[in-house]
Amino acid sequence: MSEALPAETVLEVKNLQTVFFTNSGLFRAVDDVSFSVRRGETLAIVGESGCGKSVSALSIMRLVPDPPGRIVGGSVTLEGTDLLKLDDAAMRAIRGNRISMIFQEPMTSLNPVMRIGDQIIEAVRLHQKVSSKEAWKQAVDMLRLVHIPEPERRAQEYPHQLSGGMRQRAMIAMALACRPALLIADEPTTALDVTIQAQILALIVDLQQRLGTGLILITHDLGVVAQTAQRVIVMYAGKKVEEATVEALFETPLHPYTRGLMASMPAVIALGAESDARLNEIPGMVPSLTNLPPGCAFAPRCKFAIDRCLKEYPPLDEVKSNHWAACWRAGEMLEAS
Ligand SMILES: Nc1ncnc2c1ncn2[C@@H]1O[C@H](COP(=O)(O)OP(=O)(O)OP(=O)(O)O)[C@@H](O)[C@H]1O
Ligand SMILES: [Mg+2]
Repeated sequence: MSEALPAETVLEVKNLQTVFFTNSGLFRAVDDVSFSVRRGETLAIVGESGCGKSVSALSIMRLVPDPPGRIVGGSVTLEGTDLLKLDDAAMRAIRGNRISMIFQEPMTSLNPVMRIGDQIIEAVRLHQKVSSKEAWKQAVDMLRLVHIPEPERRAQEYPHQLSGGMRQRAMIAMALACRPALLIADEPTTALDVTIQAQILALIVDLQQRLGTGLILITHDLGVVAQTAQRVIVMYAGKKVEEATVEALFETPLHPYTRGLMASMPAVIALGAESDARLNEIPGMVPSLTNLPPGCAFAPRCKFAIDRCLKEYPPLDEVKSNHWAACWRAGEMLEAS
């Protein structure tokens, strides 16, 4: 089952394809997407609403609702094991153990009728043989680790007794209780107040670095990307259209879509500046996935589009070292920069 991977690679997603069967036909929510995450690294996934960020995450977790969805191609290799080849029982043993996920709204993943401590214990005991006393101690330790005051008392409480920020901390405690190799955080702070957002992000990054966890951070917020990630992939209409280190992406974005995202976010120009602006100001509409244009899906909105863009989908090329873009004019963009 093990395949040879570079030692530091935790996750390798190759040519992932996830489709949905709907009344208006089949559409490709994730279309031939590849990326990898190394130990201790943060990979950000950005793009407008509906571009396939969450479905990519759910595909890795094998949590895409079927029907209507199905993973129809590719591989998701975690620590040498292709998760797409596992049976359900083997996958359950990996979920919450080697991979965890934090969602936008903690109430959807916390059980309202179970004490916080017991929920963390469940996560711990699912995968470790420890006594209930030891598990409770670990749960309290986890709450302390995520800076919840009076962790012994809070562990006895129910989710509704905690504030939104504290619930999100409890979620993080649960997600990290088993020291996963990979943590996926899907818009982990969007539902929180701006001041709490920064604290929670700092907490995730601090724990991730201390524990050596690989982190996939899904966000609308390029300011967050600049502050926390080392590498970024940009998605558009189910496809990866650009990948680069954070520095390279902000310095020389090579896809016109990425440029549009940045131009619509003036706050990003000051790297490291706080911003909660969202990516919604590029002129034109995101195309319907059930009715994509024949060439580049961004071409109808792209001020650089040429005839070829409307006819042929551009391949994802390594335009410069470690910097990929799917645009017929990326080479020119690079020269002009
Ligand atoms: N359960 C589902 N049934 C049908 N279509 C779905 C389902 N879940 C997602 N989709 C579709 O798949 C596409 C990708 O959705 P996804 O949730 O991955 O977007 P996203 O990039 O996470 O957007 P957002 O930023 O709004 O969270 C969208 O067109 C969405 O409508
Ligand atoms: Mg989403």
